[in-house]
Amino acid sequence: MECKNIFFEIKDDIALVKMNRPEALNALNLETLKELQFLFAEHLPKENLRAVLLTGEGKSFVAGADIKGMASMSERQSKEFSLLGQRVFQIIENFDCPVIAVVNGFALGGGCELALACDFRVVSSKAKFGQPEVNLGIIPGFGGTQRLARLVGNGKAKQLIYTGALISGEEAYRIGLAEEIFSPEELLEKSWELAKTIASKAPVAVKLCKQAINMGMNMDLSRALDLEAHLFSLSFITEDSKEGIQAFVEKREAQFKGR
Ligand code: CAA
Repeated sequence: MECKNIFFEIKDDIALVKMNRPEALNALNLETLKELQFLFAEHLPKENLRAVLLTGEGKSFVAGADIKGMASMSERQSKEFSLLGQRVFQIIENFDCPVIAVVNGFALGGGCELALACDFRVVSSKAKFGQPEVNLGIIPGFGGTQRLARLVGNGKAKQLIYTGALISGEEAYRIGLAEEIFSPEELLEKSWELAKTIASKAPVAVKLCKQAINMGMNMDLSRALDLEAHLFSLSFITEDSKEGIQAFVEKREAQFKGR
């Protein structure tokens, strides 16, 4: 499958995925959603990747679901569209290695929801977040009512969703919707540095941390702690854990192999 609306490249075990439909502020039409699905479900080489940076071309990260494409949808088609977006975002959420949203501009509606499906969000002062669906008479349909509330709390999520307010990168950082903020000029370079730091750690351990957090968030605490103990024991039998512990004892840097 050809990706017309998404650019990607891989350098040093890190993938840069760039939403590339700037004439529509990278809005997610059906075609772009299917390309995202193809990329994350089939095309990116999972075994060798240590981190993915997801960003947007131009002045937008993603300005939401494609409103023009939604104009002629029937009730049934709108449900299928919502289910497709939710499925694709779950694939991204559960991708093997960390996926970092690098939010350079508008992250609205489905764009905010895409950023929420990533492991964490690095933003520039030019970022603008919001769930403006109520302005269109609809509700967030790609996971926003659920992931936003889980991340920033019920009250703040309700305030943002009910008002459709757009908030700045600084405000997103302040309320915990973004985890790091840089100047627009530094955003990509600093995000690469973050990805490289992650890439230098034991890859299987990072992957198991992601599984423990993602799966544990949807369980009660005692089951989640059982899961953690299980995954802890799996990390313990990796070659990298032997190397990491031995390297500490020998006061040298660990050489991780990803197994
Ligand atoms: N869908 C389709 N096209 C979009 C779009 C979207 N979500 N957002 C922007 N565009 C298009 C515009 O129509 C415009 O195209 P034309 O030049 O052909 O007219 C182009 O991108 C540039 O946009 P603007 O001229 O509007 O740029 P601006 O800088 O003046 O405004 C903006 C930027 C505030 C982001 C404004 O474009 C806007 O409000 N966009 C819509 C945001 C939105 O409501 N998103 C939620 C969509 S619904 C959703 O996502 C549901 C869900 O949860 C699944």
